[in-house]
Amino acid sequence: MKVAPKANNYRDAWAGDLRGDDAGRTVRVAGWVHRRRDHGGLIFIDLRDRSGIVQLVFHPETSGSAFAAAERLRSEHVISVSGAVVEREEGNKNPNIPTGDIEVSVAEMATLAEAETPPFPVDEDVEVDETLRLANRAVDLRRDVMLKTLELRHTIVKTMRDVLNEQDFLDVETPILTRSTPEGARDFLVPARLQQGSWYALPQSPQLFKQLLMIAGYERYYQIARCFRDEDLRGFRQPEFTQLDIEMSFVDEADVIAVMEEIMTKVFALVDGFETPAAPWPHMTYAESMLRYGNDKPDTRFGMEIHDVGALLSGSDFKVFQGVLDGGGVVRAINAGAREMSRSELDGLNDVVRIHGAKAVAPIPVGEGDTWAGNLAKFFTAEQISAVNAELGASAGDLLLFVADKEPVAAAALGGLRLELGQRFGLVPEGAHSVLWIVDPPMFEATGDAKLPWTAIHHPFTAPTTTDFSDPGAMGSRGYDLVLDGVEIGGGSIRIHEQAIQEQVFSVLGMDQEEAERRFGFLLHALKQGAPPHGGIAMGIDRIVAILAGRDSIRDVIAFPKTASGGDPLTGAPAPVDEAQLKELAVKSTYIPPQPTA
Ligand code: AMO
Repeated sequence: MKVAPKANNYRDAWAGDLRGDDAGRTVRVAGWVHRRRDHGGLIFIDLRDRSGIVQLVFHPETSGSAFAAAERLRSEHVISVSGAVVEREEGNKNPNIPTGDIEVSVAEMATLAEAETPPFPVDEDVEVDETLRLANRAVDLRRDVMLKTLELRHTIVKTMRDVLNEQDFLDVETPILTRSTPEGARDFLVPARLQQGSWYALPQSPQLFKQLLMIAGYERYYQIARCFRDEDLRGFRQPEFTQLDIEMSFVDEADVIAVMEEIMTKVFALVDGFETPAAPWPHMTYAESMLRYGNDKPDTRFGMEIHDVGALLSGSDFKVFQGVLDGGGVVRAINAGAREMSRSELDGLNDVVRIHGAKAVAPIPVGEGDTWAGNLAKFFTAEQISAVNAELGASAGDLLLFVADKEPVAAAALGGLRLELGQRFGLVPEGAHSVLWIVDPPMFEATGDAKLPWTAIHHPFTAPTTTDFSDPGAMGSRGYDLVLDGVEIGGGSIRIHEQAIQEQVFSVLGMDQEEAERRFGFLLHALKQGAPPHGGIAMGIDRIVAILAGRDSIRDVIAFPKTASGGDPLTGAPAPVDEAQLKELAVKSTYIPPQPTA
């Protein structure tokens, strides 16, 4: 710990901070019984507080009544003891813990609280069912790995704040009870008692408020902001999560990117051995990422890139490929390398691509001398085979995997397949990290829905690269995402600061003027009050901490997270409420609980 505790009735020293040169001091320490051992007529207690662990020794002769009391101590009881710090005899020193040279010879002890037997051990890092951990989070958070992770989280956030405070960024809070701020998820709604029939939405991000702060002339804003999104929860998503949210005025992409590179370079440096390439980090266009990696968050730590081979295979006798090409689709492939895969393992790859809507994978093994083996080979000419082998860098023994489908489906399917194979064959080199910016995303994406044909790729406040709205699908945008090890850790954009453009974007998204006015009138109005060019970014703090801490789930880096079904086993949230509460809010539930089946 940075400073010794102020002496009081419980303690005057941190347990974990005592060292050899404290020998001879009389100290008072307080904390939890981490472990107890009885040995040679003595009782040894490892006492734990946040700073670490110190060994207490109770002697039958010198510890007085504390010795008898110590016999009743169990794991996780809470005690305060005083005694002399004594240097341990040479053979008894423990080089594995910082306090291993000394112990506290207890003269007095107060048992402050007893604890029931913990539901899982605190003193070992054992695999424990997550629901049990979450339901007993106060005990779970005592485990060293959780403490270390939350300490790292604190340090990461502090580092971010330090850089921004140094550069005149102003930390401003924005409302939690607000109107919808669309980021592509459903809103969480809160009924308003004082205005019955109306609802607040929890913010999906502070997006519109930070833009208003720029219009207000605040120049540089940041906030460690809680965001709420009602969406399906996968590994790296939580319904409430935390962003480092930033906005700057009179800036271009390069200005925002430079600030973020400075922050993230310092953040990465917090973890020993977390070696990332030095900034400036490479930029890859969205289109290139979709083509080569099948998604917009490429894991570039390994190759096995996707190649478009449609043009090379056009005119073949293979009806499946030709049919897709004739229908405007694509044929894409990866070279999976020399892999031993059984028939059933190859069949299993179909399940991977089906998740992304593709029908199947066509596996073709490469034979000797620029040929293909297997039963599909006969459909292709020697020139086609040779051209595809050259494109994929294929040699004898390699396995080529093809997907023919509509472009987005083929891209996503091979992207998914690539990640699956990368994991299965351990293709990411130990300790490797990749950081890059994905830039030049399209402004809109087709939905396939005739009524609302377009959706914004980032959010509707992102500036388009053109003012020509005649073909929304061809419009680029000034967005950028930061990708670390195949995870999108942040995203932002230069914003629209002209009201007329903002209205046109809303219109492409299917909002007529009246709806735009109703939902975003406050923004459109402010854009007429002198809006500077501005832009910003938001970083997913939970994701950053999880990657830096080497955890697979962001639940492990949040003190009180939700499970995959959005529940909290600790508090029981979400929970039904009293009829009376609903009445006050003028809300009626139409929910019918499932009836037990006879
Ligand atoms: P975006 O929606 O890309 O941008 O969010 C920014 C970053 O937040 C993280 N993130 C999440 N983390 C955990 N759980 C979630 N459900 C979740 N959703 C997003 C990701 C993501 O990169 N207002 C814009 C930012 C801007 O334009 O300045 C925004 O929120 O790491």
